[in-house]
Amino acid sequence: MADFLEFYPLRPHNTLGFDVTARYAVPVRSEDDLVQALDDARVASRPVLVLGGGSNVVLTGDLDAAVLLMQIPGYRVDTVSDGEASLVTVGAGENWHATVLRTIADGLPGLENLALIPGTVGAAPIQNIGAYGVELRERFHALRAWDRQTRRFVTLDAEQCAFGYRDSLFKQAGRDRFVITAVTLRLPRRWQPALGYAELARGVAHLPAPRPEDIRDAVIAIRSAKLPDPAHLGNAGSFFKNPVVSAPLRDALLREHPSLVSHQQADGSYKLAAGWLIDQCGFKGWREGCVGVHDRQALVLVHHGGGSGNDLMALAARIADTVAQRFGVRIEPEPVVI
Ligand code: EPU
Repeated sequence: MADFLEFYPLRPHNTLGFDVTARYAVPVRSEDDLVQALDDARVASRPVLVLGGGSNVVLTGDLDAAVLLMQIPGYRVDTVSDGEASLVTVGAGENWHATVLRTIADGLPGLENLALIPGTVGAAPIQNIGAYGVELRERFHALRAWDRQTRRFVTLDAEQCAFGYRDSLFKQAGRDRFVITAVTLRLPRRWQPALGYAELARGVAHLPAPRPEDIRDAVIAIRSAKLPDPAHLGNAGSFFKNPVVSAPLRDALLREHPSLVSHQQADGSYKLAAGWLIDQCGFKGWREGCVGVHDRQALVLVHHGGGSGNDLMALAARIADTVAQRFGVRIEPEPVVI
């Protein structure tokens, strides 16, 4: 039977390090734990929040909620019948980065571009994690989840998960409906390096034939140089999504701001670098009381300690308003605000 912890401090469970409590917290170590916890009156009568690594949430105050601390373990490798790929099924509570390292050590490359992303495996599909030219959806086979509406375990494939840029079913129509318990990754046997991201390509340019291990190490080096370690400085990675705008709007902005950073999308629209927009407004390294903007990456908001999620959201609103005034483009927060 799952343990119920009362007035449980969540500070170690969110990488921004906000000091809030949950009315109940329940460690979930198996699918049975999960179903039992959800059936308990203390959980059924309250909002439910599933926390993995807590690396993509902003907790704005004490929660009269039941927090499920997702800790389901598991790691299993299968080979698909045609031998073209390995399917790696991983428990939702496993650490994402540890999983990346383990697959590479097992001779199953494909996740190296996604090294050092904080959080758990179960959280990865929710925002379709992506970095250095690879998104989770490109390595995704299926996931298993408890459907709170039909009270059954279901298997959802990539199409059903409706992945988008930092988006999925689980942030849209399926929000609060599904609890992910395991994710199956599809890692093709025939490995090809993904070096489309210029800074990463430069990082391995001295190697005639970079191996997955070399790419993993280059990604770790780039991330460590730019992104703060949550163990030392509270943060939730990129705080805003890169806004997508039409080609005419991007062209107009480029005429006015020749150093604008933008990337064309498959449909002809452009993704603008939100970090650049924020940087241009002078916020890099900005501090407002206990919260601020990272001094090496303007897209990352930080918590220096002693502040609240509301302080951070006030700063985020101010940044978004300033960017909108200056560039006429609205930037949206990426983490889930609770
Ligand atoms: N830039 C600035 N000033 C800044 C930050 C960025 O001018 O303070 C400009 C740089 O010129 C740079 C461009 O913006 O060329 C893009 O920056 P970067 O390459 O660091 O990537 P990003 O767009 O800031 C995105 C993801 C990251 C991911 C990197 C690498 C989003 C919201 N963020 O960041 O994901 O690691 O690309 O692929 O899409 C996360 O989601 O938490 C995250 C860290």
